[in-house]
Order: sequence, then C-alpha cells, then structure tokens
Amino acid sequence: MYICVCKGIKESDVEDLGRAGVTCPKQLAAALGIDDEDDSCGRCLDNISDLVTIASIEHARHSTPVQV
Ligand code: FES
Repeated sequence: MYICVCKGIKESDVEDLGRAGVTCPKQLAAALGIDDEDDSCGRCLDNISDLVTIASIEHARHSTPVQV
C-alpha cells in the first residue's frame, strides 16, 4: 500500500526502515525524503505518527530480546 503518492513510498519501505532501527519521526521523514518542503507536498507528514507505529512494530518484531 502506498503511504506517499508524491514519492511513491510504500508501507514496506517504512517497514524496511523500522527493521534498520529508524523509528523516530524526524529520522523517518528525512530517510523517506518527505521532509523536503520544496520537493514534496508534505501531506503524508500529517500521518507521521502512523509511520512511526509501523516502523516501531517492525523494529520490535526483529529486535533480539535481551537475556538477563
Ligand atoms: S504525499 Fe508524501 S510528500 Fe506528498
């Protein structure tokens, strides 16, 4: 599913970033290139919290649990 029509970014792209540990809003926006006001409409930035959730779920799913 596309989450940004301007850049052709799919949900799977956000999941890839989450698996790489990119889960904070500013890092996600920069990595996806949606923080550039001159080159994007920024509409998908309104949903950045949803993107953080998607990335965070993927990050948690692929993180190695710490053994104590
Ligand atoms: S919909 Fe993402 S920058 Fe326009």
